[in-house]
Amino acid sequence: MAENEKTRRLNKLREEALKGGGEKRIEQQHKKGKLTARERIEILADRGSFQEIDPFVTHRSTAFGLDKQKILGDGVITGFAKIEGRPVYVFSQDFTVFGGSLSETHAEKICKILDLALRNGVPVVGLNDSGGARIQEGVSSLGGYAEVFWRNSMASGVVPQISAIMGPCAGGAVYSPALTDFIYMVKGTSYMFVTGPNVVKTVTHEDVTFEELGGADAHGIKSGVAHFTTENDADCLLQIRKLITYIPQNCEERVPMQPAKDPALKKAAALDELVPLNSNKPYDIKDVIEGVMDEDSFYEVHRQYADNIVVGFSRLAGRTVGIVANQPLALAGVLDIKASLKGARFVRFCDAFNIPLVVFEDVPGFLPGTDQEWGGIIKHGAKLLYAFCEATVPKMTVITRKAYGGAYDVMNSKHIRADYNVAWPTAEIAVMGTKGAVEIIFRKEIADAKNPAEKQRELEQKYNEEFAHPYKAAARGFIDDVIFPSETREKLIHAFEICENKAERVPRKKHDNLPL
Ligand code: HXC
Repeated sequence: MAENEKTRRLNKLREEALKGGGEKRIEQQHKKGKLTARERIEILADRGSFQEIDPFVTHRSTAFGLDKQKILGDGVITGFAKIEGRPVYVFSQDFTVFGGSLSETHAEKICKILDLALRNGVPVVGLNDSGGARIQEGVSSLGGYAEVFWRNSMASGVVPQISAIMGPCAGGAVYSPALTDFIYMVKGTSYMFVTGPNVVKTVTHEDVTFEELGGADAHGIKSGVAHFTTENDADCLLQIRKLITYIPQNCEERVPMQPAKDPALKKAAALDELVPLNSNKPYDIKDVIEGVMDEDSFYEVHRQYADNIVVGFSRLAGRTVGIVANQPLALAGVLDIKASLKGARFVRFCDAFNIPLVVFEDVPGFLPGTDQEWGGIIKHGAKLLYAFCEATVPKMTVITRKAYGGAYDVMNSKHIRADYNVAWPTAEIAVMGTKGAVEIIFRKEIADAKNPAEKQRELEQKYNEEFAHPYKAAARGFIDDVIFPSETREKLIHAFEICENKAERVPRKKHDNLPL
């Protein structure tokens, strides 16, 4: 179009919109080791794919001289883009504009993105860097937050929602991410808290730093609020790109396929030797995952939180699956409160988005003790049980070693409608472990024996012969087969093929009542 007054006006406005809060604030952002909102989108999106919407929106407030400080875009850049060729909606808060704080119009821009994403069945990625509610706007900004929260809740389970925390996120700024499916944090530059260290000091007299209170490690390791902790902005954005490759666009779509890479044959053979015959010796369940799934395809979720259970996405013959695996290396793979919450949340995401499940089971039971009981292991453990029960995606279970007690039922057993359950020859499927069981059922015999220790050993051997194997469960049809570990990959691929058209439904209801 030939240059004229009208084209000059558009070009001028476009230039102005690109500047955000200005050179000085951009410099400050860089000094903190953070990228700007636009630089972040450039890394997140396929080259040249980002289409901005609402670049000319400005706030409507007049209080505290704000009418003289209008910045195009009002602190959030919104639009749509492609990631690895797949469409996504994006919003990226601009800390250089009023600290990325949320005004009424800032909220409206995010709401528009969420409405479009829901209508068009497309995932949403939110890059958060915000001082929370825009203080000068008072209740208008609180209303704006609530509008965002409502949309997050409506979109939950319909389209995947991914949040990156890339700066301070305080107050209202943490609740929208909390309603989404996955939270990424950046080490050293991102924080999440309901209220910051100053208020904490006043209320509880605790001295705590930003990092200790709500840094990436605080939420990646302690609270479990963050699913992923990343090294810097670029790492965070590249990891989100990776996650997108595993998940479908919406709840109606099937999982994406990628060309399969078979694991080296030696890895499959190595599985036959992996599980120690002494059932008290640990081994790394991630070696099992590596040996069975497509090569290098495991993307772990919640890596630093509750490491007695391992969850994450992987691929089997090119198709995404969700993995839930007990980890004998940590607390012998026992189920506790944190592990139950971590597992349940992941299973529910997979089921909501048609991602089939594979469980690798080696679990001695639920962790006993007052800490766990008073913390509510009954209701939290029930969440994991509930999640597996209600899941209607194809579900497979491989019992590698221990499947004891309630945990046997919980971990995707046949009885709660798993489709294909197999055990390795090292499996032990029983109400409880040998020592505990013998001490309970033979208490009198052991006490009355001339040599109680010898009697106990003898009875333990008897119990082992009777129960510490998979063949009683196989005889009942509670497992479908006992297989060699090296056969697992092939058998699972066939099992998923046969479940390709699974279309199970739960009974009609308004919504469930998951034990919260
Ligand atoms: C308006 C804000 C702002 C806010 C920051 N700014 N937060 N403007 N509303 N909430 C502005 C600052 O005035 C400053 O403007 C610029 O953003 C950068 O802020 P700094 O303080 O200079 O940056 P930094 O030192 O990095 O500290 C960042 C921060 C701090 C930790 C986020 O600004 C802060 O504590 N902000 C307030 C956080 C807060 O309490 N928010 C309200 C939460 S209540 P200039 O012009 O100097 O660049 C809430 C209720 C919702 O959100 C509840 C819903 C459930």
